[in-house]
Amino acid sequence: MSESQESGIRILLGVTGGVAAYKSPELVRRLRERGAQVQVVLTPGAARFVSPLTFQAVSGRRVRDDLWDEGAEAAMGHIELARWADLVLVAPATAHFMASLTAGLADGLLSTLCLASQAPVLLAPAMNQAMWQHPSVQANRRVLEERGVRILGPAQGDQACGEDGPGRMVEPDEIVDTVFAEPVDIGSQSLKGLRTVITAGPTREPIDPVRYITNRSSGKMGYALAAAARRAGADVVLVSGPVAVPTPRGVRRVDVETAEEMYAGVHQCIGDADIFIGCAAISDYKPDCIAEQKIKRTGSTLNLQMVRSPDTLASVAALEGRPFTVGFAAETQNLRENARHKLINKGLDMIAANRVGRDCGFDLETNSLTVLWEGGEAVLEQAPKTVVAARLIQLIAERYREMHAELSSTQAG
Ligand code: PMT
Repeated sequence: MSESQESGIRILLGVTGGVAAYKSPELVRRLRERGAQVQVVLTPGAARFVSPLTFQAVSGRRVRDDLWDEGAEAAMGHIELARWADLVLVAPATAHFMASLTAGLADGLLSTLCLASQAPVLLAPAMNQAMWQHPSVQANRRVLEERGVRILGPAQGDQACGEDGPGRMVEPDEIVDTVFAEPVDIGSQSLKGLRTVITAGPTREPIDPVRYITNRSSGKMGYALAAAARRAGADVVLVSGPVAVPTPRGVRRVDVETAEEMYAGVHQCIGDADIFIGCAAISDYKPDCIAEQKIKRTGSTLNLQMVRSPDTLASVAALEGRPFTVGFAAETQNLRENARHKLINKGLDMIAANRVGRDCGFDLETNSLTVLWEGGEAVLEQAPKTVVAARLIQLIAERYREMHAELSSTQAG
């Protein structure tokens, strides 16, 4: 797969100087086979075990190994690279690297990227068994785990130094399975403890006892957001229209059918919410009156009088002490302009503009979004909805924290 065709999870793969580095090119291949984009960052020690050229060949990208490389910085500066990553994976991770990370050192490109990135970090340590069991290494492991760094392994067995015990890097297949079992937000707790209400799916507006007006929303995007918010540590309530998607683990689901029920369902649980995300495709209009009996096929035409349904999103944004309010804008044309209009008109903190049509947005496995807020924007490129959702949750968490920091400094001043 060429770089431009790749749209999956963006992995910044750090390789540090241990003999297990010989397995890392294979790891790159396996990650790319599963659709990941992999940017390799080598420490000077790693480059002594495996040549940067090998990694360049298997990753399809120029390897980064120097904080002071002006050419590479001109293409993508290290802060940009830190923001680019959905996941920082370090395999193998040496005892020295674990100590640098624990101490917060920025003594090379990889450790600097780890400090600058808000992406979750997954380490696959590899070292001599006595080193691994040393109290300082174990103390560093504990600190890193307490901070949310996920540590995979090491595995038990024969070591390159001739000893036997815990210290072997886990096999590439196991690392890849872990990455894809818990995509993107491994260990991330960016919404820890925040009450988040999310709407998803379509609404159905009855015409008579057997017919209704609806749209093509499958609920996949909203459910992926609920799962990502939950994995990021939020307490999630999902107010859902009728869909066939399973409820994500740990999420409380409230089922509704019409736009009015969506409005009521959201207002019942919005009380002390910190964040609201309106992803549901809610009907703008509903039939003025619902026929009590099935409408008969009598006249050659049938006129339905429609009236506006309540706007749940705008009503949440208008609440006193309202939560951080994120809307979606499903647009077939003038994406940015229409979305910006909704951002301002509905008084939102953020909006995700979603191009929709027969072949994009609704009822597909992938999506792309342009996210706008006052003074900023970000493009979330085409990727599986689970990946786009995790990226959006990361953006919301960042913006939420920035806004709260601004508010506290204004109040203090
Ligand atoms: O469910 P999927 O198949 O995965 O598809 C995902 C999606 C395309 C439905 C989703 O990503 C998306 O774009 N959701 C918003 C759909 C929509 O109704 O957009 P809108 O531009 O018409 O509405 C703007 C905002 O107002 C939305 O946040 C909507 O939830 C909200 N709204 C709209 C009408 C209404 N009566 N009440 C509302 O709260």
